[in-house]
Amino acid sequence: MLNMWNFATPLLLAFAAASAAEPPRFTGSPSCATSMCHGGAGELRHQTTIWQKQDIHSRTYNTLVNARSAQIAAALKIPDATTSTRCTTCHAPFHDVPQAAFLAEITKPTEGVSCESCHGPAEKWIRPHTRPDYSHRDRVLAGLRDLKHLYVRANSCVACHQTVDPALLAAGHPELLFELDGQAVSQPKHWREKGDWHGPKAWLVGQAVALREMSAQLAREKTPSEKLTTPWSASLWLLQKLDGLDSALPALKSAANAAQAHPAADTLARRAAELEWSSELTRQALQRLAKTHTEFADAKVPAAQQARRAERLVLALDRLTAPLDKAALDKLEPDLKDLFALAQSLPDFAPEKFAKTLEVFSRKL
Ligand code: HEC
Ligand code: HEC
Ligand code: HEC
Repeated sequence: MLNMWNFATPLLLAFAAASAAEPPRFTGSPSCATSMCHGGAGELRHQTTIWQKQDIHSRTYNTLVNARSAQIAAALKIPDATTSTRCTTCHAPFHDVPQAAFLAEITKPTEGVSCESCHGPAEKWIRPHTRPDYSHRDRVLAGLRDLKHLYVRANSCVACHQTVDPALLAAGHPELLFELDGQAVSQPKHWREKGDWHGPKAWLVGQAVALREMSAQLAREKTPSEKLTTPWSASLWLLQKLDGLDSALPALKSAANAAQAHPAADTLARRAAELEWSSELTRQALQRLAKTHTEFADAKVPAAQQARRAERLVLALDRLTAPLDKAALDKLEPDLKDLFALAQSLPDFAPEKFAKTLEVFSRKL
């Protein structure tokens, strides 16, 4: 069954809880930031400080006034990037929210990607979520988005981190490549992550959600360019290597086109988010991916396709090896570094060299 997540857009997410007649309103980041709540100094109350001082999400609006944005906007004939929904949808989501959806007039698009852009509009839960007798589940029932659940989290991030209109790319916008675990690690954390093998699982959920979004975009294009098809097929290729890794996960091998990959990838993401991840799964996933060195040695696969596969493969190896113990990691690190260097430039990609290094890496696993 298809549901609303099958094509995530930031606005859709903002109103995820809005099917009722009275959608909950946004309260704005100042309402979270009192010193007794999330505006304090200690580890339990430092969320606003981290977001404001370290997290790029509080400055995404400012990006729209820099020189690069001016160039992109000029190429697209947009008079002002700070007021065009083609930019604000990700860089200043509050710009696209009607005034009636704000509780207070102080809420401004300049907040950038704000607390509620990720945690959901707070009107209905801002009071009850502070009750000492409330569990996480109670808060979620009150409307707080359940970002602890990796499927929900991946859907929240991917809405801004994967799909861009090809016209924006042609105008000079950076290409987006969603990778949940790595990006969650790079985002300055204002929370504590719990659970073993959280990283590899987040990686898999994120890759499946990214494939779903790419499939949705591809299926809508009448004459998709190679810029869309090559990354899509590389993502599908990567995930197909994990077919059968666990009996709870659906196989993608029969997904022959974007329309078929779309629901299959969504099911994979949902099931992966429920899976009990383990060191054994991590080991098997690494071995399967490393074995692809034989495919990189295959001269029949076009170099452009190989380069895209390598781009995703190195990120996968990086995330899957990250939680290994230090001795194992030390052994693999030099080859991993070389693989990253070899996958760095798409036009210069040399498949045979990559295949050789990957084979060495594979033997050390
Ligand atoms: C789908 C969401 C999305 C849309 C729509 C979008 N951006 Fe971005 N933009 C991003 C993300 C995510 C990044 C970060 C990419 C990275 O660093 O890998 C980014 C990066 C950028 C950068 C590079 C960062 C910098 O500081 O120089 C510029 C400039 C930029 N965007 C401008 C724009 C403009 C102008 C528009 C509208 C024409 C726009 N963006 C529309 C998501 C989006
Ligand atoms: C409403 C849109 C939106 C949402 C939701 C969002 N981001 Fe972002 N994110 C952006 C934009 C826009 C940028 C680009 C910042 C810039 O340069 O202006 C960005 C930048 C980043 C960066 C730094 C650049 C990069 O790509 O490495 C990381 C890391 C990141 N986001 C992680 C996340 C994670 C993890 C989530 C989910 C928990 C998330 N983001 C949710 C819009 C969003
Ligand atoms: C780019 C997305 C994003 C933005 C913006 C964001 N958060 Fe979060 N936040 C997350 C994620 C992901 C988690 C981890 C999942 C969880 O614990 O619920 C989290 C966790 C939290 C937690 C739980 C902390 C813990 O240790 O359990 C609090 C409190 C919080 N955020 C408050 C805020 C406040 C306040 C702001 C704005 C100042 C904010 N967040 C902005 C994504 C975001």
